[in-house]
Amino acid sequence: MKEAEIDPLSDHVAVVTGAARGIGEAIALRLASLGARVVLTARDQSRLQKVKQAIEDQAGSTLVIPCDLTDANAVAELGRHVHAECGRCDILVNNAGISVARKPLVDLPVEEWDQMMQTNLRAPYLMIRALAPLMIAARSGHIINISSLAGKNVLPEGAAYSASKWGLNGLTYSVAEELRQHNVRVSVIAPGSVNTSFSSSGKDPRRMIQPEDVAQVVAMLVTQAPTSFVSEVLLRPTMKP
Ligand SMILES: NC(=O)c1ccc[n+]([C@@H]2O[C@H](COP(=O)([O-])OP(=O)(O)OC[C@H]3O[C@@H](n4cnc5c(N)ncnc54)[C@H](OP(=O)(O)O)[C@@H]3O)[C@@H](O)[C@H]2O)c1
Repeated sequence: MKEAEIDPLSDHVAVVTGAARGIGEAIALRLASLGARVVLTARDQSRLQKVKQAIEDQAGSTLVIPCDLTDANAVAELGRHVHAECGRCDILVNNAGISVARKPLVDLPVEEWDQMMQTNLRAPYLMIRALAPLMIAARSGHIINISSLAGKNVLPEGAAYSASKWGLNGLTYSVAEELRQHNVRVSVIAPGSVNTSFSSSGKDPRRMIQPEDVAQVVAMLVTQAPTSFVSEVLLRPTMKP
């Protein structure tokens, strides 16, 4: 069997935001298992080191770059670090995101609105700005944004979260059209409730989407034949909670 069939992402560099836990951790582990060198980023350095260890225990390759994605200068520095250390970026997964406790929009403090938009919408823009130039220069790359079904539907008492994800979908569709001429593919995954510590939904965790299910979709997207790409995946649990 050829190496590309065993490790389809060998020689690839994948940057995963929010890789410290939850969906990002599962995506990082999956991409590493396919042969990619995975750049892990989030704020929690000790959690990042645990994910790095888990990948290296499976003979995978990682680089940890802690970063607060709400800090534009720090994101630009992250981009320079990836450039200097790896010289390329084949895959960018904009996964990091936050929600806040559900409340009517009129009761939502401005600071919470700003934090939500900075993390869920501005950070993917900053990451694309920092890393897409490497992809454009290479005439190859794949950007995957992790949105939510809340970005396709209404979410009463979650308007800011919903708006941030509707915005992320719009950003994705638009930048996809900008970058396809450079042979760079841009996709969005919109999952329903996923079994992580992200939200205390009270749902039966066994009937929720698992983080590994989202990682499986990322793996499918980045191993798609190069002549086409999937714009959008809506991911739902098989069984209703
Ligand atoms: N879980 C769900 O039900 C669900 C459903 C649909 C979509 N999603 C989306 O999936 C993505 C991941 O969710 P999850 O369930 O895995 O959440 P999670 O377990 O809370 O993980 C979120 C990740 O984002 C990172 N992060 C948050 N703020 C950050 C910042 N300012 N700078 C850098 N990193 C930051 C966190 O690391 P640090 O705290 O260490 O920085 C963590 O690694 C989010 O975009 C979320 O909106 C989740």
